[in-house]
Amino acid sequence: YRIACVAGARPNFMKIAPVMKALQALGPQVDVKLVHTGQHYDEAMSAQFFAELGIPEPDVNLAAGSGSHAQQTADIMCKFEPVLDALQPHAVLVVGDVNSTLACTLVAVKRGTPVIHVEAGLRSFDRTMPEEINRVLTDQIAALLFTTEPAAQGHLLREGIAAERIHYVGNVMIDTLLGNLPNAAPAEQTVAAAGRPGFTSAPDGYAVVTLHRPANVDDAAVLRGLLDTVAHIAGRTPVVLPLHPRTRAAIERHGLQHLLARQDVLLLPPQGYLEMLGLMRSARVVLTDSGGIQEETTALGVPCITLRDNTERPITVEQGTNTIAGTDAQRILAIYDQLLAGGGKAGRVPHYWDGQAAVRIAQATLSWLQNGRP
Ligand code: UD1
Repeated sequence: YRIACVAGARPNFMKIAPVMKALQALGPQVDVKLVHTGQHYDEAMSAQFFAELGIPEPDVNLAAGSGSHAQQTADIMCKFEPVLDALQPHAVLVVGDVNSTLACTLVAVKRGTPVIHVEAGLRSFDRTMPEEINRVLTDQIAALLFTTEPAAQGHLLREGIAAERIHYVGNVMIDTLLGNLPNAAPAEQTVAAAGRPGFTSAPDGYAVVTLHRPANVDDAAVLRGLLDTVAHIAGRTPVVLPLHPRTRAAIERHGLQHLLARQDVLLLPPQGYLEMLGLMRSARVVLTDSGGIQEETTALGVPCITLRDNTERPITVEQGTNTIAGTDAQRILAIYDQLLAGGGKAGRVPHYWDGQAAVRIAQATLSWLQNGRP
């Protein structure tokens, strides 16, 4: 059986790595191909992850790049179609919720190739989020759906997806995390390499902040409010802030550089996987608008404050270390203060976030293929 795996943007890479490895471990029964859409193309956003995570060289790179949602999605679709025709896979496997996920799903399904969706059924119920649209549409037309947390199954069933298509397997992102934790780059080493040795050794620890969601960074007033809050936090615990290209551009566009120009804020370029893992693991607290980081902090047992009004990953709040704070400065600072005073959530690691999710996916995929793809 030939399976074409698709990855395109940074959060896809840590998900596709263990899935490809587990599929390849099935032996000669499966022929695994990798298609990189090129949605992310910077060394720091893509190649570094391939190297650190041992992802095989893509068989095809569509080099789609950036653009408006319509341009990017259409470009990936147009470039993926002939590749699909050439590869003739029995199934296309997509992960997550980025534009590459939906674009390749649409092409494959319309060409009669069934789609396997890893990380299905997550819902923020916020349709202003591009990822929510990608999730809902991908799940609706996928043939086989693998979920990371129990709530996902309920969402899918309510949307009319047949129960036999849905498999609760756990979280492949956590497979990658557990597999790579021993190799994480120590935080001290990362800040020293950035010319700030000792930055992460303050007595009260340090905070890691990440921001990249369009709703948080594209609007000048919202971004200003968040950066002001970051500056307040830095006054108490030093802040390490790796800047996503979108955020860096927005800060410059809105002329907000001065808010972060202070000794207790360390701006870094986008970090590699092992560097980010090391920074998060020893942080006192992580503040983020990322989906994946909510899960990674839960697995690490590090308190997380989510700078959004909702989450599609409720298990990180119900069981994990995550608190939803929104973007209101007072609220964020109140939660942060409580946490520093010792009121951080202890949390526990959800069921099946055990490092074996990809193995479950590979086994279920093989029997699905052998049983004639219901
Ligand atoms: C995408 C995903 C988002 C994910 C995020 C992680 C969608 C709709 N969004 O958002 O879910 O959380 O990736 O990073 O798919 N850019 C570069 N270098 C790159 C890639 C992008 O400089 O390698 C810049 C470009 O200016 C580009 C902008 O970042 O226009 C946004 O990139 P894009 O891929 O459109 O979306 P992300 O914001 O990265």
